[in-house]
Amino acid sequence: MTGEVTRTQAAATGPAATLLYDDWYPALRSSKIAGKHMATAMLLGIPLVLGRTAAGRYFAMRDTCPHRGIPLSYGWFDGRQVTCKYHGWSFEAVSGQCCEIPSLTGRDSLDPSRIYAAAFPCEQRDGHVWVYVPQPGRGKLRVDDSATLPAVPEVPKFSQRYRSAHLCADLPCNVDHGIIGLMDPAHGPFVHQAWWWRSKQSIHEKEKQFEPIARGFRMTAHQPSANSAPYKLLGVYGQPITTTIDFVLPNRRYEIIRCGEKWFASLTTVTPTTENHCRIDVCAAWNIFLHVPFLTAIAKFFGRRFVRQDQLTMIQQAEGLKHNPSLMLIDDADRPAKWYFELKQARLESQATGAPMRHPMSGPVTLRWRS
Ligand code: FES
Ligand SMILES: [Fe+2]
Repeated sequence: MTGEVTRTQAAATGPAATLLYDDWYPALRSSKIAGKHMATAMLLGIPLVLGRTAAGRYFAMRDTCPHRGIPLSYGWFDGRQVTCKYHGWSFEAVSGQCCEIPSLTGRDSLDPSRIYAAAFPCEQRDGHVWVYVPQPGRGKLRVDDSATLPAVPEVPKFSQRYRSAHLCADLPCNVDHGIIGLMDPAHGPFVHQAWWWRSKQSIHEKEKQFEPIARGFRMTAHQPSANSAPYKLLGVYGQPITTTIDFVLPNRRYEIIRCGEKWFASLTTVTPTTENHCRIDVCAAWNIFLHVPFLTAIAKFFGRRFVRQDQLTMIQQAEGLKHNPSLMLIDDADRPAKWYFELKQARLESQATGAPMRHPMSGPVTLRWRS
C-alpha cells in the first residue's frame, strides 16, 4: 500500500493547506514502539522521535537536537533518557529537559537543566500514540500541562467486551482534500462499487438531517440505507438500527451504529503529516458477531479494500491537483465540505483573536442528494 504511494508522491504534490494547531493528532501505532526502540513520525511538518519509558510513559520529542540539530533518533535511549549521538547530550525523554552535557568541566557555569529539547504531550488510545501539537512559537508548553488540555480522542465503546481493528493509508494530498473526501456523501456508488458494498444501480435520493455540535456537525441518528453493508449485517438481529455520524475539528469522523445491545463504532482521522500530505487512520470497535471466528481478519480484509479505494482515488486526484485547478463545491452533496471549511475558518479566527469560536450553522438543516 505505502510503496505505491511513495512512487507517486514526488510527482503528485498538490497545494498546501493551512494547518490547525493546539490539538491532538495520531502520530503512529503504539506497536511500532517496544522496549528501548525509538520510532520516528511526521506530524504537521514536525519530525518527531517517539518511544516509551521504562516506567511505561509514552514520549514524543522533536527529532532535532537543540545543540546542532542532528536527529535525536540517531542516538540512544536507555529507558529514561535520550542521548544525542553527536556530543552525547542527554535529555529526560518525557520533559525534554537536558540532564547531562559531557563536555562541561567543573569550571563551566552552564546549567544543563535549563536547556530543553522540544517535547510534546503524548498519550496512547486505541493503539495509537496521540501527540498534542501546540501553535509554533507560542512559548513553551510543559508536558505536565497535559491536565489542562482537551481529552485525547478515542473510539466510543458501549460494552466491556468488544473487538477492534485499525487501518491506515498515506494520501498524497493536503489534509483539506483528505477530510472533504472523508465527509463526501456522493462518491460511494462510484469509488466503492463492489458486490459486497453497493452498486451504481442502487443510487437513490437521500434526505438526512444535520445539526451543529461543538466544533463540528452531526448527521442525526437515522436508519441506515437498506442496501448498506452495516444494515445488511445488523439486520439479522431484527431490531431497529440507528446510525450517527459526527464530524469534529480538526480531523475526526465518528460513526456509531447501534442495534439494541449490539454496536459498531469507528473513529476515522485524516492527519496532516506535512502541508500537502496526509494520512487516514481508521480505528473501529464492535461487539457484533463476537462468536464468529476470524471476524477481525475478515473485517480488516474488507476495510482495507474500502480504504484502498479511497486512497487510489486520491492518488489520482492529486495528479490533477498539482496543476492547481479551480474547483467547485455544489449543493447539497458538498455542503458538509463547505461546513468543514467554514468551521476551520471560524477556529482560525478564534485562535487569532482569542474570542470564542462562532459556529457556521445556526440550527438543524436537511440535506438531499442522490447516492
Ligand atoms: S548535536 Fe546533539 S549533542 Fe551536539
Ligand atoms: Fe470513501
